[in-house]
Order: sequence, then C-alpha cells, then structure tokens
Amino acid sequence: MFIVICTRYKLEKANSIMNHWFLHQVSIASCMLLLIGCADKQVSSGNDQDAFVDSLLSTLSIEDKVGEMTQLTLGAIAIGEPYDLQEPQHLDSVKVQNALVKYRVGSILNCGNHEHAPEKWHEFITGIQTAAAAKSSGIPVLYGVDAIHGPTYTENGVLGPQQIGLGATWDVEIARLAAKNTAEQVHAVGIHWNFSPVLDLARDPRWPRFWETFGEDPHLVSAMGTAMVDGYQNSGVPFAATLKHFFGYGFSLSGKDRTPAWIPERQLREYFLPPFKAAIDAGAMSIMVNSGEINGVPVHSSKALLTDLLRDELGFEGLLVTDWEDVKYLFTRHMVAEDYKEATKMAIDAGIDMAMVPLDLEFTQSLLELVQEGSISEERINQSVRRILMMKKKLGLFETKGFPPSLSAYPGKENYAGAAANAALESLTLLKNESPQGQPVLPISGAGKVFVSGPTSNSLNALNGGWTGTWQGTDTAFNTKGQPTMVEAMQMRFGSERVKHMDLGMEFTGDEIQRVVRSIQRQQPSHIVLGLGEMPYTEIVGNIDDIALFENQKDLVRAVHALGIPVVGVFIEGRPRAFDDIEPLLDAIVMAYIPGDYGADAIAQVLDGSHNPSGRLPFTWPRHTSAHLTYDHKHTERIHSDFSMNGFNPQYPFGFGLSYSPVEFSGLKTDRSDYGMDDVIEITVNLTNGGNRSTNELVAVFSQDKVASITPSVDRLRHFQRVTIGAGETKAVTAKIAVAELGFINRDNVYAVEPGAFGIRVGNQVVDVAVTMKNK
Ligand code: BGC
Repeated sequence: MFIVICTRYKLEKANSIMNHWFLHQVSIASCMLLLIGCADKQVSSGNDQDAFVDSLLSTLSIEDKVGEMTQLTLGAIAIGEPYDLQEPQHLDSVKVQNALVKYRVGSILNCGNHEHAPEKWHEFITGIQTAAAAKSSGIPVLYGVDAIHGPTYTENGVLGPQQIGLGATWDVEIARLAAKNTAEQVHAVGIHWNFSPVLDLARDPRWPRFWETFGEDPHLVSAMGTAMVDGYQNSGVPFAATLKHFFGYGFSLSGKDRTPAWIPERQLREYFLPPFKAAIDAGAMSIMVNSGEINGVPVHSSKALLTDLLRDELGFEGLLVTDWEDVKYLFTRHMVAEDYKEATKMAIDAGIDMAMVPLDLEFTQSLLELVQEGSISEERINQSVRRILMMKKKLGLFETKGFPPSLSAYPGKENYAGAAANAALESLTLLKNESPQGQPVLPISGAGKVFVSGPTSNSLNALNGGWTGTWQGTDTAFNTKGQPTMVEAMQMRFGSERVKHMDLGMEFTGDEIQRVVRSIQRQQPSHIVLGLGEMPYTEIVGNIDDIALFENQKDLVRAVHALGIPVVGVFIEGRPRAFDDIEPLLDAIVMAYIPGDYGADAIAQVLDGSHNPSGRLPFTWPRHTSAHLTYDHKHTERIHSDFSMNGFNPQYPFGFGLSYSPVEFSGLKTDRSDYGMDDVIEITVNLTNGGNRSTNELVAVFSQDKVASITPSVDRLRHFQRVTIGAGETKAVTAKIAVAELGFINRDNVYAVEPGAFGIRVGNQVVDVAVTMKNK
C-alpha cells in the first residue's frame, strides 16, 4: 500500500500543482493508509464489506464524519472564482488543504465549468486523492459527475443520444450498452460516480428537462432506467449510477423548473414512483433528491418521502445525495428554515446522507455544531457515513485509494463510436412522409440539389444538448473535433456539389428568410431540408412561456413551402414544440431528438434511405399549445362523442413512428379468454412487412381496464419489444403479461388488481379478456 502511494506520488509529482507540504502530509497519510490497507486485507480475506465499514467507522471522529457527508464542486478547490476559474485550470493547494484535509470533505463533483482532456482529469483526481490521503482518516474522495449521454465532460469522448432519444429506440439493450460505454470512459479518467439516469417522467413538454428523461410512461422509463443502471454498475468497472431526481420533479403546475408541484399520493405512487422502485430493486447505488417542492413541502425536508417511503418502504440502502445547493435553498428559496443550521437539521432529519453544498463549508460547520450540541445524534450521522463508506468500499476506492487508472489504458473512441452511431440511428423517428399528392418524399431520390437551412442545421451543439462540454451545452469551443453537423453529414452522404446551404442563427429575421428564399430560387433544388427546433438548455435556463415552435421558424417553413418544392422538416429538439398550423406545409418530418455527435450522419442516412427509420415517440406530441394530454389519459378526456370537442387530439400519439417499409398488425389473440389473479396472459400477434426492405418494428402491448374503482386510463403500456421483419415477411410475435401487472393504486393508495374485463391492445388490434378471483 505504502509503495503504491509513494510511486504514484512520484509519478505525478512532475505535473503536480501541489505545494511541497504534501511530501510531509503524504508520508504521514501513507502510514495511516498502511493501517487501513491492512484492515482492508484482513476484510477481503474473510470478513465482509460491512465489517470493514463498521471497523473504519469506529475509528472516525465527528469531524471526519461531517466531512464525509460534504460534497463540494471542483470550482471551490481550483484557482480563481468558482464560476470564473483561472485558465488553464489547476487545483488551488490552499483551498484543497482547507477543504480536503482540514474539513475532510468526502466528495467532489462537477468539472470546473467546462470539459477537460483525460490528462487534466488525471491531474485533478490525482491531486485530490493525494490530499485525501493526507487527512487523518486517509479516506479517498468519491468523485461524481454528470456524464448523461457519454463522457460529457471529457474532451473527445463518444457522445450518443440524450435520454429522450434512447427512449425513442424502445430498446433496453441500446440503453444498457450506452451506459456501459459511458462507465468505461468516465472510469478511465478516475471518476466512479455518475449522476445518471434521470427517472423523472416527461409528462409536461414545458418542463426544460423533458429531454433528460426516457419519456412519459412509467413502464418505459422503468425498463430503460433499470437497463441503464445495469450498464453503469455491472459492466466490469467499479462505477455507480444515481437515480434522479427523487421524485415528482418535472410535474410542476407552471411547467417551469423547480417550481411547486401538487401531486396527490395516488398519482405519485401510480406514475412517479414505479421507475425508482424498479431501479432500487435493480441495485442502484445512489439517489439524488428532487430540488422542488411537492404539496407545499420541499422534498429535501420531507422525512415522509426520504425516510418513511424511500428507506422504510422501498428498502433503499444506498447513498442519498441532495441536489445542487439544496440545503441552503431551504432557507434562501423555499423559506421553510430560518438559517443554514436549521436547514441542515431539517435535511438530515429528513434523511439525506450527503449535501451537494457545493461552494462553501457552512453545511459542514452547521452539522458539526448540531451533533456537538446534541440536536442531531451521532447515531444518525453514523447511518449516513456508513452508507457513504459502503459505496466507497463497493467502488474499490480503498484498494486504489481513488487514483485513476493509467492513461496508457485509456480506451480508444473506436470502442464506442459504433454503439453511439447505432443508438442515434435507432432513435430517429419518421413522423410524416407524404406530399400533398399522396407521394412519399423520403428517401430523397434522384440527382437534384438539396437545399439545407434552418437554425439547427449546422450546429453540433443542437445535436448534443445540455450537459455537453459545459452545463448549458452552448459553447462551440467544446464541440467534439471532427464530428459533422447535419449539413456537413449530408454533404458527405449526398456529395458536396449537390448540397447547398444557408446558415441561420436562432434569432433570424424576415430579411434572412427572404435571402434563403432567393438562394433556393437560384439553386432550384429538388428538395428543401430544414433543421428546426431548439438550441441546448437545461434547468431554469430552458424555461419557456409557450410550447409553440418559434414564430420565425414557422415563417421560414411558410416561405419555403410557397416555392412548390418538397420540404422536409428535421426537428432537432428535446421536447415537442406545437406546430399544427404549419404541419401541412411540411411534406416529410423527422424527429431527431438530441441525437449526439453521431446524430448528423444518422439523419443523413434516413434522408438518403441508407437507414430505414424505426424510432417511435416516447411521448405524446401535443397539437395545440394549451391542450397537452398524455396517452394514458382518462375516458372523460377523450373527444366528446356528441360535440367532437374537449378531447385528446394530439399531433402524434405516444409510440408513433413511420418506416419506409410499413408493418401491419393482425390476428391478435390471447391463449385463453379468462384468467385468475396469479396467471400470465400469453399474447400472439402477427406482423406483416408489406414493404420491400427489412424493418424493425415496435410491439407495444397496452391494457385497458374496462371498469375500475379509480377511473381507468384508456390505455396503459404493459410490455414492449422490438422485432425485425424481413421484406414481405409475416412473423408471429408472442408476449407475456402477468395479471398481477394489470393493477393500479386504489382508493386506499394501495396497489391492487381488480377482477373484471380488460382489453389487450397491440397496434390497431384489441382482444378482450376476463380476470376473475379464481386462484385467490
Ligand atoms: C442538477 C442535477 C445535477 C447536479 C450536479 C443540478 O443542478 O439538477 O441533475 O446532477 O446539478 O451537476
């Protein structure tokens, strides 16, 4: 152990920005570590992880413990102001010593305002772990980061689609592989903890983090989320997932970030809880708390949600971390506490283990005082520290002391690019493909020119979204070198002589539209392709007052449509913007979501027909700005049969998507017509590919509870799978649904399956079955 530390220290010394005091500190710490190392050896040769953690815990002082429960951002220990760091960035040895040695801070997060090269990450992590080794306990630091669609804060990392695009693949293996690839690349720079996946639901497109989710349905989100947890945690490198944000985030009344949500317990349990429950059952190691309030109570202060529900009922034993600055917000924003100390007590009493403070040490001091004066028991603190140490132990930090693996083992891009490109391809969703004359417009055939314009057509930032390179993902300086934008990828696929382009920023004017029109008139292309949608944003920066597509983009569509040339709209955006008034003016529409660095080529492949699109919407696309309903709405929300109004009338339904080789569903049947409570319903449906190319179809099985004690939804997703069907082929597909899965949260807020009649729907096919109490 001692030798390892010294060798590492020597190796890094040349590049280290640490001051010479470390020599002294490190040698003291190394002796301490030798002791821990010995304990560690004994444990691994017989005792279990619990014994190791308990024995280490028994040696810690209160100061050590409150330090472990503190998380700071990298900016707080680097040279300069946290949001204005000196470049090139370096750790500040004075701040490092104060935070990591004096205050014994147990965790660091984030990237210091922008991404870094792997070498820079190594410098940071090595400096941080060297300092951690010098504190009295020698416990390594747990480093966390938001690597939400690949290694988003590592230069040149391989970036696939954001979660909403993964949701559109409806393919759990794609999500699992994306997570595994992220884990390997992030672990290679010495980081073991990822603040991903998001298990919130996309039930309100106004919410600026809609795109960070897998979609609107709890079953889809549970399946994709657990696959991602598995990919992060069980891929061969020690790496932890974080489920966020527990829970009900994203369904505020206003649709704006971190504003009040009013969600009755029944709805919380019916929709928002199941993905977290599934991922906890799958072994997720950590959870981050929702920054908002539910029913008037900030979630960070809710013992009912964070302890009674999360710990006692769901049995979560991992690490519960706050979101950014959320202890402080209890008294600066939510106004439920007088000051830092009261806020700290509130959050600890509620059940948090670690505070993402992240800029100062007030939490640490307040917590120390609260324990010293007896307002918080040491027993309570031990619970949290035990969970933190356990996570560090499970991640192997005590063995490696948290130092990064050798850079010579840094994995090449070629290991991951194929998976990211495939995920992007499988996510793209064809929403329309019909000229006014009823002819398909895509794939683009012939040898004519293709005119490309629109604000997202030449932007890598638009393709990658928030949390890419920087928090907001808008800085072009951090784009991955060598990746094409949509127009560049089209030039490569169609030939640069065929593709003409005119750039437009987001704020383009009527004059610029006229310039585009004149240019099209000069070029006489056979097709016009417009990159529409949004530039990146996240959190409060992405708040909007209107979900309508931007007026200038609609004007652009109107103007180019008037030229009488087929127009293809490609939406590169994280949420569905309402565009009903100009939908008829687009002959073909592709939803690209936020497909990542390989998304441009994927779009070009859909446009030129090299790829047959198979993505399906993971959400309902609203037709009107003020009439959004999810697919699982109630019967009273259907179009009123007498007046043809007041109803569910989306632009495109949940699960919708076209292909170049359409598939028909037929012959849906179940193995029986009535079932008992413990039975499994076996469903068979035929899929016929009537086209001339192989296609990949989504088989989504919905249940329809005909009569129930809580008004039933018209449809609930119960199962999904992807099936490949050759040209002209018919395939019988079977699926199984346990009767036990047909329940809902009843009037007592308890999950129950009620006997009675159910419809089972796949595509346009429905069969009815009966459920009886027979084997109960
Ligand atoms: C976001 C989290 C994120 C955290 C750390 C917060 O502002 O809400 O999703 O993981 O910052 O970067």
